[in-house]
Amino acid sequence: MTPPINLFEYESIAPQHLSQMALDYYTSGAGDEVTLRDNRTALEHFKFLPRMLVDVSGRDLSTQILGQSLSMPILIAPMAFQCLAHPEGEVATAKAAAQLGTVMVLSTMSTKSLEEVALASKHCQQGSKGEKSLVPNPLWFQLYVHRDRNLTRTLVERAEAAGFTALCLTVDAPVLGRRERDSRNQFTLPPGMELANLVTMADLEIPKTAGESGLFTYFAQQLDPGLTWKDLEWLQSLTTLPVVVKGILRGDDALRAVEYGAKAVIVSNHGGRQLDGAIATIEALPEIVAAVGEKAEVLVDGGIRRGSDVLKALALGAKAVLVGRPILWGLAVGGSAGAQHVLELLRDELDVAMALSGCATIENIDASLVIKL
Ligand code: GLV
Repeated sequence: MTPPINLFEYESIAPQHLSQMALDYYTSGAGDEVTLRDNRTALEHFKFLPRMLVDVSGRDLSTQILGQSLSMPILIAPMAFQCLAHPEGEVATAKAAAQLGTVMVLSTMSTKSLEEVALASKHCQQGSKGEKSLVPNPLWFQLYVHRDRNLTRTLVERAEAAGFTALCLTVDAPVLGRRERDSRNQFTLPPGMELANLVTMADLEIPKTAGESGLFTYFAQQLDPGLTWKDLEWLQSLTTLPVVVKGILRGDDALRAVEYGAKAVIVSNHGGRQLDGAIATIEALPEIVAAVGEKAEVLVDGGIRRGSDVLKALALGAKAVLVGRPILWGLAVGGSAGAQHVLELLRDELDVAMALSGCATIENIDASLVIKL
């Protein structure tokens, strides 16, 4: 079989490698999935105004995010339960990120423990001759704040001790969005799979709930819907790591996050999985970039499937993008190599899109390159 040629081909093959429950969990958005669709269609309304006769012979996609040098402005978004896609789960994804010199954001709800993932990433960074790769410790830890604050504190301490380089606080999930396929399937983890970060600390697991997604029930029972900006201060008092706030869709919230100490914000609607009807992320991005200015870095996720999508996001002021579901499709089809190939495809498409629009480096990408029609 010839390998998939783009991310959509991975998406079309992945279902052959996934249980129906896993496929539904990964693909679904909330409600009528309007926001899920909008993330894609909104990108198509931005058109390029490419610059010609620019010397693009020496292209360089590398960039700096939170002071870390990355090979490209494409990170791996946090996604729960990756062992549903492949037995190596998050360990395989971490290896793919390390191989390519970019960051993986590990979910609190991972099916491999954060220590195991950090170890795999470290091994991968030691090249065959023992040389260090481009990015030391290319791992951020995504945090869900549990009602049990001691448990939350311990998670933060563990992540810092294991060498994670940033904390990514998800703020768009005081409760879980209603994903109807998961309710219908009574989504839960299959036997042998567990909340690897949480089961050892507090015996926490995804329940089997009649007529409801077990994850919805878990969120209702365990996560803290009372979280406010004050807690951002509390979180920073626990750690020396930079805090990134994920799930921002308004300029005033972005500014507030920065005022409360966030070093970066991620413009995100959780892949259309939380509030259905929320604005597409590419539409929300310009206002947030304008509000934050130089005070913090702005990243964006949601619907990125092509290198040209990355270029649009960067032209609109994002420092980098995060990719979610396509990584899972790569993981399902080919394990770590599949996830790595997905990133390579996106990187190579970005390289071509930059060349064709007159950008040799990431710094050359500016707002004049895109127009909304
Ligand atoms: C978990 O964070 C999810 O969105 O399913």
